[in-house]
Amino acid sequence: MSSTLFRTKNVEQSIQDTEEPEHALRKSLSALDLTVFGVGVIIGTGIFVLTGTAARNTAGPAVSLSFVVAGVVCALAALCYAEFASTVPVAGSAYTFSYASLGEFPAWIIGWDLVLELALGTAVVAVGWSGYIHSLLDNAGWHLPEYLSGRDTASGFGFDILAALLVLVITVILVLGMKLSARVTSVVVAIKVAVVLVVIIAGAFFIKGGNYHPFIPSPQPVPAGGNLKAPLIQLMFGWAPSNFGVMGIFTAASVVFFAFIGFDVVATAAEETRNPQRDVPRGILGSLIICTVLYVAVSIVVTGMQKYSALSVDAPLADAFKSTGHPWYSGLISFGAAIGLTTVCMILLLGQARVFFAMSRDGLLPRFFSHTHPRFRTPYRPTILLGVIIAVVAGFTSLSELAELVNIGTLFAFIVVAISVIILRNTRPDLPRAFRTPWVPVIPALSVCACLWLMVNLPAETWLRFAIWMVVGFVVYFLYGRKHSRLAERQAQERRTAGGGTS
Ligand code: ALA
Repeated sequence: MSSTLFRTKNVEQSIQDTEEPEHALRKSLSALDLTVFGVGVIIGTGIFVLTGTAARNTAGPAVSLSFVVAGVVCALAALCYAEFASTVPVAGSAYTFSYASLGEFPAWIIGWDLVLELALGTAVVAVGWSGYIHSLLDNAGWHLPEYLSGRDTASGFGFDILAALLVLVITVILVLGMKLSARVTSVVVAIKVAVVLVVIIAGAFFIKGGNYHPFIPSPQPVPAGGNLKAPLIQLMFGWAPSNFGVMGIFTAASVVFFAFIGFDVVATAAEETRNPQRDVPRGILGSLIICTVLYVAVSIVVTGMQKYSALSVDAPLADAFKSTGHPWYSGLISFGAAIGLTTVCMILLLGQARVFFAMSRDGLLPRFFSHTHPRFRTPYRPTILLGVIIAVVAGFTSLSELAELVNIGTLFAFIVVAISVIILRNTRPDLPRAFRTPWVPVIPALSVCACLWLMVNLPAETWLRFAIWMVVGFVVYFLYGRKHSRLAERQAQERRTAGGGTS
């Protein structure tokens, strides 16, 4: 059985598949294009929304340190990811890479995890987008009824209609196969970065030193009954659950980690890159460094503009300007944020439909989902199925709960990738690796520890939800995927042929 769990698609075959003329993508991207693409997908709800939530609830002004912590964790993961991606430069994602190198079961785990990361990530970004549209509407004096604006309403019922609508519109766009041209992407990225720079530069003039005191607020007990909401590590060691303090910096880091998600998506463009071996790692690390610097600067400025306890949870960057009496800046920021978040949402939704499509093409999920649309040539079935589910989830679920679930899934995938780098160095030392993670196994081991550390700083209930998701994944794999795998069929066929038709 273990041999079937670890059956692999052959690396050379995977690369060859992508070179067949009818499946080949044009190799036109450079390291700079990848960096722009990376920044385009990385900067999103994390910095635009979660900065406020994390500062207000768990870290105070020290949220800027949380960004540093999350950035370091991602840099370690990126070093491993880059080797993984440059070893198997085919389109797809960690799922494709691991199928070719590690085997079917680890690939399934990563694929199942990626669906969680990308699908729920789409929902988080859609909810963040809706927060900024609300802020814009607010500026214009328009207000949606409370029950259509979000979940945390007085009556307890709320549906975020804007977030759900955004996801549905993007679903239609993706089904029709409309793509963001490279030029549109660059313009949107430029707008987004410009907005972030406006926040940093204009905001710096409104900083009040007093807002930084205390920089690390002293620990505060979590309200009784909130134990499942406390970070796992506090429960593990029997500490009284609390927010803020030094541990609060790590709790916040495990939340704002979301702001860095997306650098791994850069690896999915490997096949369209002119020199993937050299440029993919450059693109990944370059975009990560730019984003870390911007995030730290934004969080320092915003917590200096407004007392952390007063930051808004829906549109903190824009509302900080409102609080200083500058609604004009606030409108500009909301507008830019809304445009920027739309593309992040689109890229994440596209990414998850592709992973789902790849998994069904391999037979691990029903092949019904691997038929492309006869006219638009898009993977329309998974796109529609997941688009509708995500729209409902985005409408009903709280943003930070969703983000935490996305984070735990992504951190777990990073752990698998880091371990894979070590395993592959031993099992396939022959594979060409244009980018080699330095100091293997030290860096991958540090990456595993760092990711685990952030994971145990996530709430116990997030662990519970993640465990449920993974158990469902195992059940689907063992009841369906393992039997219907195309690779299994192919290997059985080969055995029959080799055995002269007897078997
Ligand atoms: N990093 C992306 C964001 O913050 C997913 O929205």
